[in-house]
Amino acid sequence: MSGKLLFQWTEEFNIGIDEIDEQHHGLVTLLNQLHEAIREHHGSTASRQILDRLVEYTRTHFSLEESLMRLTNYPGRDAHKQQHEDLIRQVQALQTKLDEEWIAISFELLHFLKNWLMQHINDSDRRFGIYFQTDGLQKYAGKVSPDELIQPVPPKKKKRWWQRWFGW
Ligand SMILES: [Fe+2]
Repeated sequence: MSGKLLFQWTEEFNIGIDEIDEQHHGLVTLLNQLHEAIREHHGSTASRQILDRLVEYTRTHFSLEESLMRLTNYPGRDAHKQQHEDLIRQVQALQTKLDEEWIAISFELLHFLKNWLMQHINDSDRRFGIYFQTDGLQKYAGKVSPDELIQPVPPKKKKRWWQRWFGW
């Protein structure tokens, strides 16, 4: 990997659920690979292969999140699932367009994906992370050992908006 990364992963993106954090990191790595392939002109076949892997991995990741939300009776589940479905639909439309029109994957798309992911992790996923570690964990207990999934959120220097919101 050479040059500047499209999406620099930092601990700040952790939402405190180990498996989800690992998968988010994996998604960011694939997105950076796609960016590199396009920037370094590795060809449309290589780019398309990475895009396909990214879509596949995104589906797997979304199903993990959605099953954790189902198991913990997360109240925001439907709205969250809708966001996932909308993204998959948009990316699918793009894959079809790429096949039909032979257009190149643009930097505009890369930035769209990057911004979507950053915003989604920091807002919707983080909200679920907070729920999961409080109410959700109590309901989840007994179904699977939480130790397998939970990793404490690293302490933050500054209070974030959701901490102020919840009076933490
Ligand atoms: Fe999500």
